[in-house]
Amino acid sequence: MTPLNPSSAASAAPSATPYGTLPPTFTPSVRKPLSLLRLREMHTQGEKITMLTAYDATFAAVADAAGVECILVGDSLGMVCQGLTSTVGVTLETMRHHTECVANGLRRSHGVSWLISDLPFGSYHESKELALRNAVVLMQAGAHMVKLEGGGWTTDTVHFLVERGIPVCAHLGLTPQTVHALGGYRVQGKTEVAAAALRREALDLQDAGAALLVLEMVPADLAGAITQELARCPTIGIGAGKDTSGQVLVLHDMLGMNLGKMPKFVRNFMEDAHSVRGAMEAYVHAVKDGSFPVNATHAW
Ligand code: KIV
Repeated sequence: MTPLNPSSAASAAPSATPYGTLPPTFTPSVRKPLSLLRLREMHTQGEKITMLTAYDATFAAVADAAGVECILVGDSLGMVCQGLTSTVGVTLETMRHHTECVANGLRRSHGVSWLISDLPFGSYHESKELALRNAVVLMQAGAHMVKLEGGGWTTDTVHFLVERGIPVCAHLGLTPQTVHALGGYRVQGKTEVAAAALRREALDLQDAGAALLVLEMVPADLAGAITQELARCPTIGIGAGKDTSGQVLVLHDMLGMNLGKMPKFVRNFMEDAHSVRGAMEAYVHAVKDGSFPVNATHAW
């Protein structure tokens, strides 16, 4: 047998890349890989679930290393990465691209986080079949779960996707893709009628098989009541108070990278941290021990 040429052996071995911080060698994680079963276990045991958005490989790998359980490739990338003024202009191809970047980052760093990717505006509205085709694009790019916004008409679509083996995260309250119909980024579910509709929609989405439910900008009491009512579907709050099953923030917001007015529900975790990873670890810690969010400061 011809001995291996040392130079070709060296080129086949993993080597450091000149840019970025992703590890070149195998670094097995000591954490349990996240899965639907693990999320359910956490829910049953009352352990808070942490979620952050990420849109690229490095931030995803760092969030994973910091112990963030769920990484959301949110269509907030329209604002954060593309400079748009809403998520309405984000396309499926853009979501696919960023999902693949995040999945590559997690794969290279042997990450264990659960990767959720947003189905963008218009990609699930026309029919259940179109929703399935587009969800498949995101799953094949590396997502473990897709997220879609709204209740009522989306319930059948959620059921259709779940029946076909696609885990779904639903999203109620302020649904940014419909910002123009809602009349702006405002708190939802404030009246008795609106609150009752949200509660009904949340139960229907759970029955349709949604495995997570994001509640965005809804009064803390209402989010707490919905969380109590949903025995099988953990809720993830953003501007929804402390009594949800977990929390999510947009990465750039919690790192204080906001030149405009910071939304009320955000805490700048970079303020007391020495590194991005440190800020993420502080976020995980604060969500887990219930010190973030504080209802009086971050909620309605
Ligand atoms: O797109 C996004 O980042 C989101 C979160 C704000 C929940 O949907």
